[in-house]
Amino acid sequence: MASRFVRRSRTHLRNAFLIGFIVAAVALTGASQPGTGANQAIELAVDASKPGPKIDRNIFGQFAEHLGHGVYEGIWVGPESTIPNTRGIRSDVVAALKALEVPNVRWPGGCFADEYHWRKGIGRERAVTLNPNWGGVMEPNTFGTHEFMDFIDQIGSEAYLSVNVGSGTPQEASEWLEYLTTVQPTTLAKERAANGHPAPYKVAYLGIGNESWDCGGNMSPEHYLSELKIYSRFVRNFNPAQQERQKMLRIAVGPGGGEPRWTEWTDTIMKAWQGHTWSWDIEGLSMHSYTVPKWPPSYTSVGFGETEYGQILKTTLDMETLVARHSAIMDKYDPEKKIALVVDEWGAWYAQLPGSTPGFLAQQNSLRDAVLAALNLNIFARHADRVRMANIAQMVNVLQAMILTDKEKMILTPTYHVFRMYVPFQDATLVPVTFDAGTYTHGDVTLPRVDAIAAKDAAGTMWLALTNLDPTRRVDIAARISGLSARTASGETLTAAAVDAVNTFEARKSVAPKPISTKVAGDHVTVTLEPKSVTVISIK
Ligand code: AHR
Repeated sequence: MASRFVRRSRTHLRNAFLIGFIVAAVALTGASQPGTGANQAIELAVDASKPGPKIDRNIFGQFAEHLGHGVYEGIWVGPESTIPNTRGIRSDVVAALKALEVPNVRWPGGCFADEYHWRKGIGRERAVTLNPNWGGVMEPNTFGTHEFMDFIDQIGSEAYLSVNVGSGTPQEASEWLEYLTTVQPTTLAKERAANGHPAPYKVAYLGIGNESWDCGGNMSPEHYLSELKIYSRFVRNFNPAQQERQKMLRIAVGPGGGEPRWTEWTDTIMKAWQGHTWSWDIEGLSMHSYTVPKWPPSYTSVGFGETEYGQILKTTLDMETLVARHSAIMDKYDPEKKIALVVDEWGAWYAQLPGSTPGFLAQQNSLRDAVLAALNLNIFARHADRVRMANIAQMVNVLQAMILTDKEKMILTPTYHVFRMYVPFQDATLVPVTFDAGTYTHGDVTLPRVDAIAAKDAAGTMWLALTNLDPTRRVDIAARISGLSARTASGETLTAAAVDAVNTFEARKSVAPKPISTKVAGDHVTVTLEPKSVTVISIK
């Protein structure tokens, strides 16, 4: 934990300076005057005739670690539970996640993955172990390989497994893959069949270790590189359906920030990859970046004001700098952008809720987190040529979750609603948008007033995502659409009375999307954005 403090603090200080510089450079319409009530006007130019890269649907991926109530209670209640479930997996959570069209789920960790031994989570008799990373609680292993694969099947997603590099062996990892994917009747394939799944599973993505520079084994880049070469050689996917097409993508551990130790990490892995031989390869490089201005996390997830709203959003915009920095290193060794940058842990990390179990990383999720989610998704979309996968941390009950549960009760968070509103951007083609963002200033924090992305889906519909960061002023948006004859526009918006508005088990819909009115006149679409809001509009 101490090393994380140093890492995150230093990263923040430097990035705070960089973001301050960038924001100053885009300051074009002057500071806001909170409370004056006058709308700001911002023009967007959206050019559908210049399509950009595809926004890979995998940037809307999720992360489910054995941590707190993320898996146990959040996803798994067991077949005997009175909470409605299918084979132990809670039905309300499955139904809610289906609506997000979750492209992939990363499992079993996180730090947990580097202490996970898959054999303990299969068969009738499950070993009870410990979860030393997260509260030192007992791990019943009742949610194991088959239960996870059942879960992703129920929500219609793909598996992103992380193999244990820190305390495991290449043999253990390769046997897990054989167990999962072999069609021939090997002893392991027969064991899988005996455990209820005769057909091989599809493993779409494989992470080789997790944060190997820290909780994954505190390795130097050179040490990790040696491990990576061995693992990438032996973690074979034998599923016949994944040989020519739908090949499993192997994702190496990448950086955890912007400071020199991580630029060195990215450089070491990518340089080695450029000169790699036939016997090892990767298809992705992971990056982790949480929005956590101070370590240990001290910002609260409830009961905060405009100052903390601004500070958190300013910190989250560091993502742009980080993605750009590591993309530039990758470009040096991989100009054809064959290797994806996979931001497989991101989101807000606040102080744990008072009274919650230490190490369970329980936090509320407010309107601020909805804005934060939109800003990060927009950054990933704008870097769609390199960022082709991302996983918010985490899916249920942990950190910036989509869903919170309390026994039989379940609520959808503001972040959930943003992910649902952004579904049309999955695999859509990025369309360039140019605009003067303006600025919003509160105290010593200056932010862009608005953010926007546009994309065109396969049916030809244009989608605009608009975020008004200013918590006190409306913004009148006039979007000029070229390359598409706009006839109708409709959309929905997410806002609430306060920046710290949350959904609770008593008031489940305090923050929920509502329809928004739009106008189409000639090639212009106009809409008024409420303060602190996220809006998605379809234009046909
Ligand atoms: O998401 C919580 C933890 O944060 C993960 O286990 C670890 O990879 C990261 O440090």
